[in-house]
Amino acid sequence: MKTLIYVLCLYLSASAVQAASLYVEQVKLSTIDDQKLQEVHKQIKERTEITLKENLFVSPFHKQSQNKSTDKKSFCNTCHQQQPHSLDKRKRSFLNMHSRYISCETCHFSPKNVQLEYRWFNFNETSNKIPAKRITPFYNKEAVLIFSDHELATQARETWENKSSITALYRERAKLKLRLHIPLSKEGPECLDCHNNKDQLLDLKSLGFTKKEITKLQQHSIPRFFSRFSKEEQRLRMSDLLQ
Ligand code: HEC
Ligand code: HEC
Ligand code: HEC
Repeated sequence: MKTLIYVLCLYLSASAVQAASLYVEQVKLSTIDDQKLQEVHKQIKERTEITLKENLFVSPFHKQSQNKSTDKKSFCNTCHQQQPHSLDKRKRSFLNMHSRYISCETCHFSPKNVQLEYRWFNFNETSNKIPAKRITPFYNKEAVLIFSDHELATQARETWENKSSITALYRERAKLKLRLHIPLSKEGPECLDCHNNKDQLLDLKSLGFTKKEITKLQQHSIPRFFSRFSKEEQRLRMSDLLQ
C-alpha cells in the first residue's frame, strides 16, 4: 500500500511536466470506493488469461495478411490483447476489426459535459512505414490517449507483474484496474451510434470520408442487421441481411 502511494506520488509529480491527456487527468482525479474495489478484486481473481494461438497450422482464410504491429502500442494493450473482445460472440469479430482503425478510447472514453473532437492519429512513427491511422478523441488539441511508453504504462506494468506476494498482487492489481477504468465506459457504443445518419458519434466528413463512403457507412446493412437482435435468444438469420 505504502509503495503504491509512493509510486503514485512520484508519478503525479513527474507527470506535471508532460502534456496533459484528458484520460490521465481523469485517472489522477479518480477516487476508489470500497465496494467497487471488492467487485474488481473478485473479477480479477476469477479472470482467466486468454492466450491466442499465434501460429495456426492452417492460416485462417479470411485473414488476407498478417496483422502488422504498429510502432506505437496502445496503453490499453499493456494488459489487453490486440483483439480484446471476446464476450459478445455475435459482435466480437466486428469490434475487434474496428480496433484496427478506431482507438479503444473512441469507443470506451466519453466523459460527461466534455466536447471531444475525433481525428486520425498515426500509430507508426517511422516515415518509411505505411501509416497506421486510428480515429482518436482529442481534447484541447491534445490526444486523449496515451501509448505504452507513457509513465503510467510503465507503472501499470510494474504493478501488474509484481510477483512479491500473491495476496498483495491481487489487491494492487484490483486497485490499479479500478483506477484506470473509472473514466472508461464498459459497454461502448452501439453499431448504429456511428452507422446512422443522425446524431452520429463521429463526424465522418471532417474525418475525410467522401460523400459516397459516408452514405455507405451510414446505410450499411451489417450494423443494421445486428441492431435487430437485441436479445441473446433471438436467432440470427442470414436472410435478414437482405432486408
Ligand atoms: C493494468 C492493466 C489494464 C490496463 C492498462 C487496461 N485494462 Fe481494461 N481491464 C483490465 C482487467 C484486468 C479487466 C477485467 C476483465 C478482463 O480481463 O477483461 C479489464 C476490463 C476492461 C473492460 C471491461 C469492463 C470492465 O471495466 O471490467 C473494458 C471495456 C476495458 N478494460 C477497457 C480498457 C481500455 C479502453 C484501456 C485503455 C485506456 C484499458 N482497459 C486498460 C486491465 C487493464
Ligand atoms: C467500435 C467500438 C469499439 C472499439 C474500437 C473498442 N471497443 Fe471494446 N467494446 C465495445 C463494445 C460495444 C463493447 C461491449 C460488447 C458487448 O456487448 O459485450 C466492448 C467491450 C469491451 C470489453 C469487455 C467485453 C469483452 O468483449 O471481452 C473489453 C475488455 C474491451 N471492450 C476492451 C477494448 C480495448 C482494449 C480496445 C482497444 C484495443 C477496445 N475495446 C476497442 C466497443 C469497442
Ligand atoms: C465509433 C464508431 C463506430 C462504431 C461504434 C461501429 N463502427 Fe463500424 N465503422 C466505423 C467506421 C469509421 C468505419 C470505416 C473505417 C474505414 O473504412 O476506415 C466502419 C466500418 C465498418 C464496416 C466495413 C464497411 C465496409 O464495407 O468497408 C462494417 C461492416 C462495420 N463497420 C460494421 C459495424 C458493426 C457490426 C458495428 C457494431 C458491432 C460497428 N460497425 C460499430 C465506425 C464505427
